[in-house]
Amino acid sequence: MTIEERISKMTLDEKASYLVGKDYWKTKEYKDVELPSFMMCDGPNGLRKQEGKGDHLGINESIKTVCYPTASMLAASFDPELARELGEHLGDECQREHVSMLLGPGINMKRSPICGRNFEYYSEDPYLAGTMAVGYIRGLQSRHVAACPKHFAGNNQETQRMSGSSYIDERTLHEIYLAAFEKVVKEADPKSIMCAYNMLNGTYCSENKELLTDLLRDKWGFKGFVVTDWGASKDAVKGVEAGVDLIMPGISNDSAEYIADAVRSGKLDERLVDEACARIMRTMFWSRDGQPKDVKPSDDTTRESDYSFARKVAENSAILLKNEAHTLPLGKDEKIAFIGAFAEKPRYQGSGSSHINSAKVTGALACARAEGRNVIFAEGYDLSEDPEKDEVLLKEAAALAKKVDKVVIFAGLPNKYESEGYDRRSMAMPENQNRLIREIASVNPNTVVVLHNGSAVEMPWADDVAAVLEMMLAGDACGEAAVHLLYGDVNPSGKLAESYPMKLSDNPSYLDFGLENHDPHYGEGIFIGYRYYDKKEMDVRYPFGHGLSYTTFGYSDLAVDKVDIRDTDTITVSLQVTNTGDISGKEVVQLYVGEKNSKVARPVKELRAFRKIFLEPGETKKVQFTLGKRDFAYYEPALHDFYAETGDYFIMAGSSSRDIRLTADVHLEATEEIPVRYTINTSIGKILSTKKGREVFGPILQALTGGAAAAEEENKKENGSEAEAGKTEELDTDVLGETEEGAQYRQMLEMPLSSMVSLAGMPRSTVVDIVRKLNS
Ligand code: BGC
Repeated sequence: MTIEERISKMTLDEKASYLVGKDYWKTKEYKDVELPSFMMCDGPNGLRKQEGKGDHLGINESIKTVCYPTASMLAASFDPELARELGEHLGDECQREHVSMLLGPGINMKRSPICGRNFEYYSEDPYLAGTMAVGYIRGLQSRHVAACPKHFAGNNQETQRMSGSSYIDERTLHEIYLAAFEKVVKEADPKSIMCAYNMLNGTYCSENKELLTDLLRDKWGFKGFVVTDWGASKDAVKGVEAGVDLIMPGISNDSAEYIADAVRSGKLDERLVDEACARIMRTMFWSRDGQPKDVKPSDDTTRESDYSFARKVAENSAILLKNEAHTLPLGKDEKIAFIGAFAEKPRYQGSGSSHINSAKVTGALACARAEGRNVIFAEGYDLSEDPEKDEVLLKEAAALAKKVDKVVIFAGLPNKYESEGYDRRSMAMPENQNRLIREIASVNPNTVVVLHNGSAVEMPWADDVAAVLEMMLAGDACGEAAVHLLYGDVNPSGKLAESYPMKLSDNPSYLDFGLENHDPHYGEGIFIGYRYYDKKEMDVRYPFGHGLSYTTFGYSDLAVDKVDIRDTDTITVSLQVTNTGDISGKEVVQLYVGEKNSKVARPVKELRAFRKIFLEPGETKKVQFTLGKRDFAYYEPALHDFYAETGDYFIMAGSSSRDIRLTADVHLEATEEIPVRYTINTSIGKILSTKKGREVFGPILQALTGGAAAAEEENKKENGSEAEAGKTEELDTDVLGETEEGAQYRQMLEMPLSSMVSLAGMPRSTVVDIVRKLNS
């Protein structure tokens, strides 16, 4: 039976009912039309399959399984291949557990370091988030398990997440908050997408036709089905009209009856119900048809191999933030103190719907002891922050620290600090931990800090300690991975997927984030993360893309195959990277693009490509990238599309966003202009910035302003642009010199055309005629 035949045999009530889940995790089944139910589960960093009572907050039991590093750590690997492998592991497990769809990945942008759910998201950079998610989705879906990127869109804080509205302008939305979604839809064909709880610019995402139909389906070509976030459906009929297909969870039949009644009363077109049914069924049969029939359930062997893979992800993602005087790696024969409750019981995942019931978790202390390392231990701080206990623990730890060669403090954010459902109150770590770190560093100069946290923290002690290893939330094999990295069995290669500002108030969303009685207005626009800190020339604690290695890398021979391009061209950028140290290691080569004198506000640089490469000592590899129009473009609201303007661009290759090693210049010519609707109040400068404007108004202006125009000609000559002189070309206000005529000319550029009437005595009818010609 085809999907269409099934739908034609179902009654209206059955079809409406199919659009609402059967329970917490499943769709309904209809035996008469051979329509089985299918199961979906959270994700994204493990399988949260609930066989008993369901919930979406991480409260009730789920099956025992493996917890992988969360998205914020995976992103730091800068390795989409690793994300693909993770998707495959999860896909295999879903097959074994008869799960057809995994609710992830989470690809919202980190607008603020204190969004409670940052640990579940990849980055502050849409290109990095999109690229990692494409890898993950391709891996998962290669096993015929549907991915469900979430939460679409503008869900960047937990405060008011189910009731508030994110106000985001069109350019910022497309350039920052939608770009990762666009990338995954266009490149990875996700079979589903989850719409967010919140409103976007005043309309609930679950009722937002502009978002779910006009953009997602009609413009981007999304082929899957849209599921609501759990409980995000408000008005089910408005939802179906907007493009929602499946309402989850299914607790009562109320929404189904409401939808069927709306069809009966002529309020809702039955065709929309049929289309939604068909879209859910297409994904369901795609997943059924591709899954092997005789997979065995998960067992100790599969869990062991998944656990080893979780360790591999953690080892490839941990970030060495600081390493003075080669404090790390720790020596085999050195006497080491591990200090901190997290050394015994690491914090390795976040709270909420992504919470995994781990079969086995390893702490660093137990691993180090099992591997025979020379390690002693003190608890250091009390996780419940009891001041009396802290006093005792601090003294004990300081005494121990004096007796050893080096100290490793395991610190970070306790569970309750970071969770789905609420935002962090600040970016600070618990004060008892900050105090411990300062005191230990003052008695032992070889103090190393290992951090467990899902997103950026303030590190007031960063200058006092010798080394910092950021382990983030590293999954079940957290402790083993930490020990291997600390002792140099594995060379760190992670890079920060988010900036670590000095303090929370440096972050541009600070004034408007997480307020109970105020909807967030994304006033900082496109300037989030490094886009902001770079533009403001602000110091950060650790920049986006930063991460050290136990070896060093040299960059050379940056070359671009064309330096004068049109926006329709692609260019090839290549460079050589050499391992200049004496151990093997991996480097993430990052490619940023920036525009020199843009006419719109743009970041200094934006990540447009990256590649992680492995190099033996002394080895050199050539790395090559291709850049196209979108890599030079910004989103132009007048076009409702991306636009690469004519201008000079920098191509920057580096080891982090603040460690640019090589730069090349490229000049780009736009093949089309942004259409301008001229009025009598359009400024003269704006008119002269377009070809049409120069053609129509250039000669008139020449005739009117002989003196100033001559000064402008003179300026062009003085500035070496003879070729330009004499032509009615676009005026470069930069080359207008310091002469009085030049200054007057600049002032004139700001005047509206209508001022020609009062200031130059031009008849109004002539001005109107000029406007008509400009618009013709
Ligand atoms: C979360 C989703 C999750 C869903 C199901 C919601 O509260 O926002 O990310 O997939 O619950 O548990």
